[in-house]
Amino acid sequence: MHTNSHPSLLVLASVAYLSSAHSFVSNINVNRLMYDGFHPTRLDSNPLAIGWSTTAFDQGYVNQTGFTTEEIICHRGGNNAKAHALVSAGDRIHVQWNGWPMSHKGPVMDYLASCGENQPCEKVDKNDLRFFKISELGLLNGANKTAGPGGFWATDLLIANNNSWIVEIPSQIKPGFYVLRTEIIALHNATNAIGSQNYPQCLNIRIAGNGTILPSGTPGKMLYDPEGENLHLDIFKGLSTYKIPGPTVMSGVPTGTIPPLSHPVPTGPGATYTGTETIPVATQAIPTV
Ligand SMILES: *[C@@H]1O[C@H](CO)[C@@H](O)[C@H](O)[C@H]1NC(C)=O
Ligand SMILES: *[C@@H]1O[C@H](CO)[C@@H](O)[C@H](O)[C@H]1NC(C)=O
Ligand SMILES: *[C@@H]1O[C@H](CO)[C@@H](O)[C@H](O)[C@H]1NC(C)=O
Ligand SMILES: *[C@@H]1O[C@H](CO)[C@@H](O)[C@H](O)[C@H]1NC(C)=O
Ligand SMILES: *[C@@H]1O[C@H](CO)[C@@H](O)[C@H](O)[C@H]1NC(C)=O
Repeated sequence: MHTNSHPSLLVLASVAYLSSAHSFVSNINVNRLMYDGFHPTRLDSNPLAIGWSTTAFDQGYVNQTGFTTEEIICHRGGNNAKAHALVSAGDRIHVQWNGWPMSHKGPVMDYLASCGENQPCEKVDKNDLRFFKISELGLLNGANKTAGPGGFWATDLLIANNNSWIVEIPSQIKPGFYVLRTEIIALHNATNAIGSQNYPQCLNIRIAGNGTILPSGTPGKMLYDPEGENLHLDIFKGLSTYKIPGPTVMSGVPTGTIPPLSHPVPTGPGATYTGTETIPVATQAIPTV
């Protein structure tokens, strides 16, 4: 064997790795507590995980043929988490991804779907969920090539923020049990017929507060038009604008603003993180028997 075949084998191996392993939400911090996500890499599963389990053991994505099927709701094989986190309306939730490839540029979005005021999401049928969008961020600067040939996107901010994202629960939301659906769409391959890659992750939360608003939502299978031009495009030709897929963000919530990024971020009301505190593993995830 020629010695110079080794580097190309390594390249092939790493390409194969990238095309079969992308990411998942490993944990969530809120109010100085850390809750476990679903880890497709673990053989055991934590009964206190608030992340819905999936069969995406390749850590991969929902391709465009899945954008109108059950796959899009809570990822491939999505199945209810058995616990939930306690949050208050107005809280900021820190969502930690297990890494993110720089090439996978696209929008980052967050949705909520109510399971009922007194009905935990641990048993809800995902087909009954109606999602409303609470935040979105897409293309920030298509002409900025510092972050790579596709320009500067929300995913680049996520990477800069240690592969994590902050989502604020709108203060006006009515208390109750909700699925928080956090999602990235990677567009690097979107010139291909079914090349957009969707990474939805569902998390169970219970929102406390004094809000009264419960926007009407959209079934998961109807969130996206897989034929939409915002899912069929060439991001490398220097876009000046990008229309983020899915419904518009609920009214009363500012859009297009860069979220307050930092890490770690256990920013409950009044909380100040000094950088020396340890974040306890949540013993407060509430299991439902
Ligand atoms: C797209 O996803 C479907 C459903 O998971 C799968 O059967 C199919 O092989 C995928 N196609 C490609 C090209 O990845
Ligand atoms: C350009 O992108 C880099 C990320 O690679 C970012 O740090 C910088 O703020 C961006 N500048 C502008 C003007 O968009
Ligand atoms: C970045 O995230 C990882 C988890 O993916 C964590 O272990 C690490 O402490 C974080 N780094 C910083 C500087 O917070
Ligand atoms: C691009 O999408 C096609 C399916 O349309 C798939 O076969 C191919 O593996 C994808 N390439 C990358 C780099 O993701
Ligand atoms: C709801 O209102 C009560 C009374 O004003 C207040 O004490 C409480 O902190 C509020 N709860 C939340 C989650 O904002």
